Amino acid sequence: MATNQEILGRDDANDLEAILAITNDDVDSVLHVVADNADAIFTWDYEKGARPALTKLYEKAKTSQWNGETDLPWDTDVDIEKVAANAPMDPDTDPVLVAATAPGGPIHHWGEKEWSRMRIEAQNWTMSQFMHGEQGALLCTAKIVETVPWIDAKYYASTQVMDEARHVEVFAKYLDTKLTGHYPINAHLRMLLDDIINDSRWDMTYLGMQIMVEGLALAAFGFMHMLTEEPLLKQLLRYVMSDEARHVAFGVLSLKEYYESLTDAEMLERQQFAFEAAVRMRDRFLQQEVWERMGVDVRTMVRIQLENETNKNDDPFQQLLFSKIVPNCKKLGLLDRNNHWLRRKFSEINVIQFEDWTDTGEEYELLDELGKDRAAAAAAESA
Ligand SMILES: [Fe+2]
Ligand SMILES: [Fe+2]
Repeated sequence: MATNQEILGRDDANDLEAILAITNDDVDSVLHVVADNADAIFTWDYEKGARPALTKLYEKAKTSQWNGETDLPWDTDVDIEKVAANAPMDPDTDPVLVAATAPGGPIHHWGEKEWSRMRIEAQNWTMSQFMHGEQGALLCTAKIVETVPWIDAKYYASTQVMDEARHVEVFAKYLDTKLTGHYPINAHLRMLLDDIINDSRWDMTYLGMQIMVEGLALAAFGFMHMLTEEPLLKQLLRYVMSDEARHVAFGVLSLKEYYESLTDAEMLERQQFAFEAAVRMRDRFLQQEVWERMGVDVRTMVRIQLENETNKNDDPFQQLLFSKIVPNCKKLGLLDRNNHWLRRKFSEINVIQFEDWTDTGEEYELLDELGKDRAAAAAAESA
């Protein structure tokens, strides 16, 4: 069994110094090069429909395309302070902020002015990380087109490439035209995206991207969609979510078949990769860059956040981010192979309680907002 040191590069997942040592030190370069180490695979088996669930998803994707320029109300006036005010950040109830604002805490002196700026920075940071993650999905899906051996999966993945281009485009446009500043990619997120792209095995791209990163994104978009009252952002997120639900379904449907043929040793490598991805994503939500920009002592803030994780991890937002990932891992048989390895790890980070929530294999039909809109418009037209 691999140790935390081998999987994460540190013995204790909550090692403060090791987490702070991971930084993005080339924030000024425009390009970031990653070796993708994989063979491009042709298949001469063109028989369409050998995997009916993927064919169904492909047909759905073809009719659910939208145009980021023309299908969203970009003429909406956005009041950034109002948008930011909906961020889940309550110094009276959020356990981390309660500790940080206590007498002697690093932000005990903050008044309304600092809180208001913090909310705006957090909004800029969050949307920036969404945008960078979307570019990760764009590159990963293009890689899947090359590496997956099944024609039905190549077809479907090609539609996801288009979806992800659109997502990068709309998040970038929202940041540029409605918010007040980009953040560079978070170092933990970049490390995870690099690890996913580096891996030579085609199914690892799916596991890292479609199951872990996109599973978390679907939950995070859903949370923001529920909280925001800004109509442009709400519609943008709603459209992105209807695509993302298909993407996660693509991962679940493809890997379910493949994982049934893997040995225990091969499955253990997948379980370890899923755990590594979960910890990297948890680390990214420590949002070091925001604390730094706010002039707060980053080490103290991250320590308070980690202490909260270790003690109880009772932040419902943090937990909910795993609400799609855990049931999907269960459906793929990842939780319990090898003496419940991943179940034990997910228990340690307090997210195992989601195991029986709906998995995303079929959920995309429920989230197909665009399909519902178009059906309603067609019905109204014929009436
Ligand atoms: Fe996306
Ligand atoms: Fe996606």
